[in-house]
Amino acid sequence: MSEYLLDMRGIVKDFSGVKALNGIDLKVKPGECVGLCGENGAGKSTLMKVLSAVYPHGTWEGQIFWEGTELKAQTIRETEEAGIVIIHQELMLVPQLSVAENIFMGNEIKLPGGIMNYGAMYQRAEELMKELKMPDVNVAKPVHNYGGGHQQLIEIAKALNKKAKLLILDEPTSSLTKSETEILLNIIRELKKKGVACVMISHKLDEIAAVCDTISVIRDGTHVGTRPMAEMDTNEIITMMVGREIKNLFPREEHPIGEVFFEAKNITCVDVTNAARKRVDNVSLKLRKGEILGISGLVGAGRTELAMAIFGCYPGEYQAELWLDGKQISVNSPRDAVTQGICLVPEDRKRHGIVPLQGVGANITMAVLNKFAKFGVIDASAEMHQIQQSIARMRVKTASPTLPIKGLSGGNQQKAVVSKMLLPNPKVLILDEPTRGVDVGAKYEIYKLMFELVKQGLSIIMISSELPEVLGISDRVLVIGEGQLRGDFVNDGLTQEQVMTAALGHSLQNAA
Ligand SMILES: Nc1ncnc2c1ncn2[C@@H]1O[C@H](COP(=O)(O)OP(=O)(O)OP(=O)(O)O)[C@@H](O)[C@H]1O
Ligand SMILES: [Mg+2]
Repeated sequence: MSEYLLDMRGIVKDFSGVKALNGIDLKVKPGECVGLCGENGAGKSTLMKVLSAVYPHGTWEGQIFWEGTELKAQTIRETEEAGIVIIHQELMLVPQLSVAENIFMGNEIKLPGGIMNYGAMYQRAEELMKELKMPDVNVAKPVHNYGGGHQQLIEIAKALNKKAKLLILDEPTSSLTKSETEILLNIIRELKKKGVACVMISHKLDEIAAVCDTISVIRDGTHVGTRPMAEMDTNEIITMMVGREIKNLFPREEHPIGEVFFEAKNITCVDVTNAARKRVDNVSLKLRKGEILGISGLVGAGRTELAMAIFGCYPGEYQAELWLDGKQISVNSPRDAVTQGICLVPEDRKRHGIVPLQGVGANITMAVLNKFAKFGVIDASAEMHQIQQSIARMRVKTASPTLPIKGLSGGNQQKAVVSKMLLPNPKVLILDEPTRGVDVGAKYEIYKLMFELVKQGLSIIMISSELPEVLGISDRVLVIGEGQLRGDFVNDGLTQEQVMTAALGHSLQNAA
């Protein structure tokens, strides 16, 4: 019997001639946690989809040995029955169904005679919510009532409810706060003790370092190396990933900052499901010309709602008074916002950022198609020229601009969405979690681009849950907590502690 729980050998997967995986090996021992690292588009998610039979046996080459025997699964159900459970990078929940229904989907507890045992399912779902430190979640309510971080944890609860011998986590923490992440990392540690193995994919190398025993790095569909975590530090992982050394993760550049250019006054957003609750409560902000304003705070603090109100797309009742270049402007829809010179790169790319089945190129030019119209006809070659320029500028990795954007790796989709929102030549650009799911190399490119843009006089609002990023890039930092403004700092030696203390400030005072 082999010492390995999983032994993948020589996996090759191509998508109509493009080799996403070119002969990859991956081995996992029982109870071992393997960190799978690599740049956007390296093939990490594809490898895990091969393993879990999202791509059935026969649609790829190579062999998978599971507990010593060859696995030739045709369906996800078969791999799940074998004990391989995957949490996908993009959420797979059905928003209209309840939390409990989502957790038990395809896995329902039934009474004799086939009747659903809702009582048992609710009880188990509630236990899982407690385990994940979310006792306030009402498991009978539809999932869409909960924000990104909670949804991610619900997805994790769904996986925990299955009997996993190997748990695959594809960027599980991308929408989690620090404390939510800590809960998840602890759960992984507990599972390891029980002998459950993990493969964890993450661009956050400190998390990989915290729980993984082994690191496996892939680049362009080939295996670069596998090493014990104890022998590596994050710099070495980065060098293995990108094939070169990146010394300074935050390439801060000097740039002149002008007068106040944009102002949003008295932004208030009322909760969609609870009229008594304000998601954003009378927040005002000022943005100077050429400034990068970071907005920090815990997930759920109201930052995304704030951005939506400015962009004219908050789904509920709201108010916002906007001033641009000294004049009051009226924005009632994203179209108005774009016309006035305000663009938003949204947090939830899958829901608001892309049209999944359309081409990469069509997605990029979507907001500015009229630019290419002559007498009502689109000048296709001018459009294609623009698309190619955008793709090159952001180094979007795609075999062709006509490929459906859905086929791109997560990080490359994000780069395409940023490209799309630069085309209308905004004066104010709002980036909501711009580097989520983006690899270190591409993060660096996005930061460089941000500095290039502010040097040209653009003003940027960057919402980010990554404190090192907020502190590494912003000129000024606003802290939002429970819908209110809790801090406004010039970023001159600002520390993580100062920002966190401000974010938690209100509740600390309450506790006192
Ligand atoms: N369904 C598909 N059709 C066509 N090409 C695809 C498809 N899925 C993935 N690819 C291509 O395969 C390559 C690997 O993609 P994959 O999603 O595995 O990358 P990844 O390492 O998970 O990246 P990320 O960190 O951005 O999530 C990419 O070039 C991608 O465009
Ligand atoms: Mg991926």
